[in-house]
Amino acid sequence: MEVKSDSREFHEIECDALVVAIFEGEKPVDGVLAEIDRRSNGVVSSLVETGELTGKSGESAYVHNPGDMKARRLLLLGVGKKEEFTTDGVRKMVGTAARALRGKKARSITILRRSRLPVAEGAQAATEGALISLFDPDKYHTSDKTENPLQAMTLVAPGADVGEIERGIGRGRVIAEATNFARELINEPANVITPTELARRAEQMAKEYGLEFDALDEPRMKELGMGAFLGVAQGSAEPAKMITLTYAPKTESKETIAIVGKGITFDTGGISIKPSDGMEKMKYDMAGGATTIGAMRAIAQLKPPVKVIGVVPTTENMPGGRAQRPGDVVRAMSGKTIEVINTDAEGRLILADAVAYARKLGATRIIDLATLTGAVSIALGDVYVAILGTDQAWIDQVLAAAKKAGEKIWQLPLDKDYREQIKSEIADIKNVGGRKAGTITAAYFIREFVEDTPWAHLDIASTAWNENGKPYLAVGPTGVGLRTLVNLVCE
Ligand code: BES
Ligand code: MN
Ligand code: ZN
Repeated sequence: MEVKSDSREFHEIECDALVVAIFEGEKPVDGVLAEIDRRSNGVVSSLVETGELTGKSGESAYVHNPGDMKARRLLLLGVGKKEEFTTDGVRKMVGTAARALRGKKARSITILRRSRLPVAEGAQAATEGALISLFDPDKYHTSDKTENPLQAMTLVAPGADVGEIERGIGRGRVIAEATNFARELINEPANVITPTELARRAEQMAKEYGLEFDALDEPRMKELGMGAFLGVAQGSAEPAKMITLTYAPKTESKETIAIVGKGITFDTGGISIKPSDGMEKMKYDMAGGATTIGAMRAIAQLKPPVKVIGVVPTTENMPGGRAQRPGDVVRAMSGKTIEVINTDAEGRLILADAVAYARKLGATRIIDLATLTGAVSIALGDVYVAILGTDQAWIDQVLAAAKKAGEKIWQLPLDKDYREQIKSEIADIKNVGGRKAGTITAAYFIREFVEDTPWAHLDIASTAWNENGKPYLAVGPTGVGLRTLVNLVCE
């Protein structure tokens, strides 16, 4: 879909539908709302008077032939309190409008600016909201596929600097397209996205956007001593890969940020096999990896002045004649030995070697992204991503980037008292810490391999997949974390 700005008045713009936000308690007595009311012969005041439209978030009113304006239809959307309206409100409002109007066969929509948020930020959020909302997971439908007649969205911001709007649109498009690219990868079934195919798609993307690509194969990983990763991979007939994508800025960069993403293309649990109910969902266990690849794509286009590497360890976690057994002891690349109590706690095993490899590649800061624990949904539900880490300043930077991106992240304590739970009788550490604080002990395990490099970890297990769908978001992969990563690197 094309997104553009237009400096004319809203009523001069020809389109299928004009979208206007209405704040809680707002009455069309002055400003642009009064003008819409006047041009529509009192449609707005009538809706407000009958109490149909109070401006509460989630409300909507839709009319055809709204009167003295070139828009053929008018969609009014309640967006809640004016003082609480943020860029995330813009994202959701425009996403809701785009999804709803697509269903009503609109080909072109116009969004009228109503908030005093910075122009570029508002335009970016509107662009992200629309493009992200239009993604659907029905790739393999051969009939009843979601149709999308929507071809153009125009942003109208009276009096605003057109250059700023265009800048926001450009950045919003890069981020939204990278998000949908990641969602596409996550949505693919595990028989399509094997580790080899994930590497192939990462390579293709790298070629297109000018990133350096590399993928270690199993013999190479063996030479490097990646016993933790290879232990997980040995149960699968599909060869594992350690994918790296490198973005190098034109100017010298003293920092190298590593984004590390868990890339389990299917998690059966291995010999500690999962129950069959819902196991199909475990195709999204590579969401962290896909989001890393997507973030690298956006970073390649936005060109921040810092070096960034994306590291994605990717394999299946399968049971089989060659699979690792509970009780096995493996040696990680760092030299530490691990007792594998539960083969279903595989994410932390592959990340142990991936963070060590990121350090070997020169990472001065690490952020990892993983669908790591079911326990995170007990702690935070499907609302907040959990963050844990070793360096509070780095965590605070991630939290600030998340806030700007409209992504919800909450910190859990990585207290050293939790180390007790992952002590092993036979090896340096064991890969599970019991039922208590599962998200924390999983993060603690990874911590043992990042050594002294500032590190933050995002557990996206409960937020990477949207179970129910929302007015602005399809059921399925969310791409959560991508906007935070891009903001973190590109500020
Ligand atoms: N991939 C799962 C975590 C997960 C659960 C992701 C639900 C998405 C939705 C991970 O590999 C796993 O199996 N974790 C185990 C760890 C346990 C064995 C200590 C879990 O959370 O049950
Ligand atoms: Mn698992
Ligand atoms: Zn897993």
